[in-house]
Amino acid sequence: MKNIAVIAHPLVAHYLTIMRDKRTPSKDFKSALDKISYLLAGIFYSELKGENVNIETPLKKTTGKLIKQEVVLLPILRAGLGLTRGFTDLFPDIKVSHIGLYRDEESLKPIKYYFKFPDIKDKSGIKVIILDPMIATGGSVSFTIEYLLDMGIKDINVVSLLLAPEGIKAIENRFNQKDKKKIKIFTCSIDEKLNEKGYIVPGLGDAGDRIFGTE
Ligand code: PRP
Ligand code: URA
Repeated sequence: MKNIAVIAHPLVAHYLTIMRDKRTPSKDFKSALDKISYLLAGIFYSELKGENVNIETPLKKTTGKLIKQEVVLLPILRAGLGLTRGFTDLFPDIKVSHIGLYRDEESLKPIKYYFKFPDIKDKSGIKVIILDPMIATGGSVSFTIEYLLDMGIKDINVVSLLLAPEGIKAIENRFNQKDKKKIKIFTCSIDEKLNEKGYIVPGLGDAGDRIFGTE
């Protein structure tokens, strides 16, 4: 995959290290993820295009820029919820869609249990941001991307914390060249590998369980 950007930001690395540490309790894990979500949103939103508008300050008429682009955030439940705060706080006009997926423990294949997308007529101009801290086998994110491609969406962005090399290969093999041009992946680290249970190594453990204290 050519369209993978690894975010190198000292504060992202700082909070990611806190999250990787097995001694970090759930409340601090969640808080570090929240901080990262603001940093990633700031970096990601620097791509948005503002439109010129005429306004009047208390002193004179002038022009400014406002973002009018249709942007949809799509956290993959559950763990993707942990990355939403920064994105919604910094740009409250964003619409939030949800997809519920969990990995079957044996097959590691994603099972869908929920999907809700905003009612936007022309889907071809929408920018979608999929949020999922972990891309392991790549099954969950590929399933979600396929869903969006089938809906006619052409600007698909994935924001993650950790990406496994196996996940990159799976995405690479699943989509054709034309569809790959519609996909961009942003991650904070490409880790070493998956273990025999499909967990990212060194990773940070089970993201959903650590966020929601369900370990
Ligand atoms: C985790 C994680 C991803 C998925 C990644 O979800 O949040 O969605 O696994 O694995 P994959 O790349 O192999 O598909 P999980 O199934 O644990 O559900 P949860 O977020 O509800 O805990
Ligand atoms: N899902 C997680 O939460 N962690 C992993 O390491 C892999 C999948």
